[in-house]
Amino acid sequence: MNQRVVKLRKVLDKHNLDALLAYSPYNRRYLSYFTGTAGYVVITKQDAVFITDFRYVEQAKQQCQGFSIVNHEGKVFETVAEVLKKNQAVNVGFEQNHVTYGEYQTLVEKLAGFTLTPTSNLVEELRMFKDEEELQLIRHAAKIADDAFAHLLTWIKPGMTEIEVKNELEFTMRKLGASGASFDTIVASGLRSALPHGVASKKVIEKGDMITIDFGAIYEGYISDVTRTFAIGEPGEELRKIYEIVRQAQLAGVEQIRAGMTGKEADAICRTIIDEAGYGEYFGHSTGHAIGLEVHEGPGLSFRSEVELQPGMVVTVEPGIYVPGVGGVRIEDDIVITKDGNEIIVHSPKELIVLD
Ligand code: GLY
Ligand code: MN
Ligand code: MN
Repeated sequence: MNQRVVKLRKVLDKHNLDALLAYSPYNRRYLSYFTGTAGYVVITKQDAVFITDFRYVEQAKQQCQGFSIVNHEGKVFETVAEVLKKNQAVNVGFEQNHVTYGEYQTLVEKLAGFTLTPTSNLVEELRMFKDEEELQLIRHAAKIADDAFAHLLTWIKPGMTEIEVKNELEFTMRKLGASGASFDTIVASGLRSALPHGVASKKVIEKGDMITIDFGAIYEGYISDVTRTFAIGEPGEELRKIYEIVRQAQLAGVEQIRAGMTGKEADAICRTIIDEAGYGEYFGHSTGHAIGLEVHEGPGLSFRSEVELQPGMVVTVEPGIYVPGVGGVRIEDDIVITKDGNEIIVHSPKELIVLD
C-alpha cells in the first residue's frame, strides 16, 4: 500500500475515525495519485477505495495502485455507503473545509446510518512533508520557471503590454514542459508595481518602469512560485533603494531560515530588516507560505504561525515593499527545508537587472 495511505490510517486511529471521505481534489490526488477530475476517495482501516464513473475507471486502475476501484454507475453515495458498511465503518470523517452546504446535506441524507465527523487538515498536514518524488517535481517546476524567465529577459522590450509579457512567459513555460501556469501571472509595471497582486493588464511597459513578475509552472501537478523585479531603463534613486532593502531582506531569509524555527520566527527575519529601513508599513503581507500541489499550503511564514519548520517542507521566501505613487519590489524564491538549513531551488538572479 502506498505510504500516504499508511500514514493517514495512523491519523485516523488517533482521531478515532473508522474512515475518511476525501473531498478536496488535491487531497484525492495526493492519496490516490489519480490525476483526473472526478472521483471519491474512501480510506478505511482495511481498504482504500476509489469510487468513480465510467469515464475514469481505466485511468484509476492504472494510477491508483493498491486501491479498489469501484464504478458508482450514477449512485455515488449509495456506493459510498456500501463501501463503508462492507468495511464496518461507523465513525466517518469528512473534510469540512471542502464540502459545500449542499454536499453536506446530501451526506447527512445518504449516509444516515453513520456518524459523520467533520475533520480539518488531516491530509493537508501529511502534505506539508514532501517525499523525494514530490521534491523532484517541485524542483523541476522551479527550473521551468527559471528557464522561462531567462528567456523573457532577452525578449521583453518597452512598448509591449503587460498581457503580452504574461502570454510569452506562460507559453514559454508550456514549451518547456509545464502543463500550465501555477496561477494567473502577475506582471505589474511602473506605478502598478505598487500593487502586490497586480495581474497583467493592458498597460504598456515604458522606459524607466520597474516590473514585478510573479509566476510559476505546474509540472505533473506540482507548482513553483517565483517573483523577480527588474527595471527597463533607469528606475531612479528611491526604487533602487527599495530594491536593495528587499534584496537584503530576502537574502537574510534564505540564508537563515531553517528547521526548528517557527513560521513566525522565519517571518521576523525579513520583516525586521524592512522595518529597520523604515518601510515596515509598506510590507503588508506575510513572508511566505508552503507550496506543493497547491500554491498556498501550510505552514505559512507569517507573524501568526507557531508551526515549526521541519525537513521536507517547501516554502516561499517573498518579502516586498509597495509604495503607492512610487512603485514596488518583491523577490520570491522557493526553498526546501533541510536538516542543516535549506536548499534554494530557484536560481534566477537577484541583483537589480536594468535592461535597455
Ligand atoms: N503568487 C502568489 C504568491 O506569491 O503568493
Ligand atoms: Mn508568487
Ligand atoms: Mn508566493
